[in-house]
Amino acid sequence: MAVSQPPHTLSLSVEEMRRVGYRIIDRLIDHTENLHERKVTYAVDRAELKRGLSEPPPEAGSDFESVLDSLEGTALANFMHVDHPRFFAYIPGPSNYVSVLADTLCAGLNIFAGTWLASAGPSQIELVVVDWLRQICGLPESTGGLFVSGGSMANVTALAVARHVKLNDVNDGGVVYFSDQTHSSVMRGLRLLGFQADQMRSIETDDAFRMDVRALRQAIAADRESGRRPFCIIANAGTTNTGAVDPLPELADLCDEQDLWLHADGAYGAAAALCERGRALLTGLERAHSVALDPHKWLFQPFETGCVLVREQRWLGETFRITPDYLRDAHRTEPETNFCDYGVQLTRSARALKVWMSVKVFGLGAFRQAVARGFELAEYAESVLRASGCWEIVTPAQLAIVSFRYAPAQMSDEAAESVNSRLVDAIFRDGYAMISSTRLRGRTVLRFCTINPRTSEQDIASTIDRIAQLAESA
Ligand SMILES: Cc1ncc(COP(=O)(O)O)c(C=O)c1O
Repeated sequence: MAVSQPPHTLSLSVEEMRRVGYRIIDRLIDHTENLHERKVTYAVDRAELKRGLSEPPPEAGSDFESVLDSLEGTALANFMHVDHPRFFAYIPGPSNYVSVLADTLCAGLNIFAGTWLASAGPSQIELVVVDWLRQICGLPESTGGLFVSGGSMANVTALAVARHVKLNDVNDGGVVYFSDQTHSSVMRGLRLLGFQADQMRSIETDDAFRMDVRALRQAIAADRESGRRPFCIIANAGTTNTGAVDPLPELADLCDEQDLWLHADGAYGAAAALCERGRALLTGLERAHSVALDPHKWLFQPFETGCVLVREQRWLGETFRITPDYLRDAHRTEPETNFCDYGVQLTRSARALKVWMSVKVFGLGAFRQAVARGFELAEYAESVLRASGCWEIVTPAQLAIVSFRYAPAQMSDEAAESVNSRLVDAIFRDGYAMISSTRLRGRTVLRFCTINPRTSEQDIASTIDRIAQLAESA
């Protein structure tokens, strides 16, 4: 039976591909070059967006340029620029143009990086980059790892391995410990793995928001006494709130002593180990059984670039490897490097390639300097805030985060709390910069996270001026 030629092969002509491709590149260059002059935030309400974008899927197509134009006027005009030099909220995503091109290349070539059979070259690149990150963290050569979508997936992947190795995949009675500053992705990951709330212990922190090891010891002892099975401590290698690093050497000692797994959530902070000051702060990271590290944060990669490192590569395979019949050809060759056996995804893109390309183009020294600059910018922000008189420093600059609150001398605590709570909305509406808030010991605080190497001192000083004005009229 003859198969008819489809009327459409979902292709463009060579001329069209080139023309629209260059248009996209021009758009990206415009974004990179002119971002500084633009607003960080946007102003649109949901009803307006809905009106502009809701439609049934069009049966007939339109030309690429008009589709791109309509996107520019709607979706692309209304998102926050987390790579903007004045975006200081949450954890920024500074990214870099070389990696954007590497990502484009991977998407265009549609590399399937799940098996060695399908992608020997990209898999080897992933092995190389995982090894680079291992060295940055100081982990031993036995370490393996893989690229995942981000810190949330890195945490859940590591915790699945911890459960496998320490509990033989049986959750009953298992208990895991982390500080009250730990990122919510950890709790979500544990929930996904089937742990109940009463198997997760949130441990109090000291004045510097670091896990209180005495309280931790007591909690572990109490759990053992009641017949439970403590199996894992999750340490922060940089909390999202304040950049606090839990006492890693003490936690590693405790894990050695009590045969527990030490997972370090360094999604944002572990990259700091690249520079000398970060390395010193993160002493003990090299003793972790697993580390989550997000290159899409402080290693300046586009989203989605997360990485999980596990002290013994074979633990990944032992946790995740399943060998169905339809993958028998893939599993016949080079089983050590089938990344689908190391995590949840079978079909996965070649995420490591962008890290590799950008490190090759800029050199690791450039990354080192860019990371170190994050420390200095936060210290600069702290000094400007201190000098102004109307701000209180809540936690000093640490791993490129400083937290603070509006607290002029004559203002009551209650009034200050009210201003600080309303300030982020005002900052968002203003759009000049973006800062986010959090709660620390029951008080609303603002924070600067200064990991974008393209941020200038002027950006910081002018942002502080601007938010002081907004606070005065809030
Ligand atoms: C300490 C920490 N862990 C985990 C995550 C989650 O990472 P992702 O958003 O990449 O999933 C974040 C995100 O900011 C984080 O700061």
